Amino acid sequence: MEKQIKQAMDLLKRSYSPYSKFPVSAVLELKNGKTYNGVNIENAAFGLSNCAERSALFAAYSDGVRKEDIKRIFVYTDHDYFVSPCGSCRQVMRELMEDDALVILLNNRQETKIIKNVELLPFGFSKEDL
Ligand code: THU
Repeated sequence: MEKQIKQAMDLLKRSYSPYSKFPVSAVLELKNGKTYNGVNIENAAFGLSNCAERSALFAAYSDGVRKEDIKRIFVYTDHDYFVSPCGSCRQVMRELMEDDALVILLNNRQETKIIKNVELLPFGFSKEDL
């Protein structure tokens, strides 16, 4: 896990967050060990901004990855507390990752908080509801 933590910390500098000045990075790890990077990418039209978690997931899916391939996602911000994925990311992670995939929150003390994907969005909306 140390390798992915370092990767997430190094990745933070690629965040494009001139408006919030709140960089976030995410490293999505597949079951075969391959990783995909994601950072938050903001826009002057604020609503178009994309979170790090979704950036990583969309990059992976664009490359043909599917939920059964994904092991876990690391989410890093340079603070001494943990930043938790926003509601939109929870909804997207719920559909694009398996229920028992792990979401690993990282802080700048190199501490981790590990949560199962399904636990982040109890009673969430899903394609089964359609
Ligand atoms: N952000 C993320 O990238 N992931 C999260 O889990 C929370 C928030 C971004 C969105 C925005 O660019 C900035 O952090 C401030 O909200």
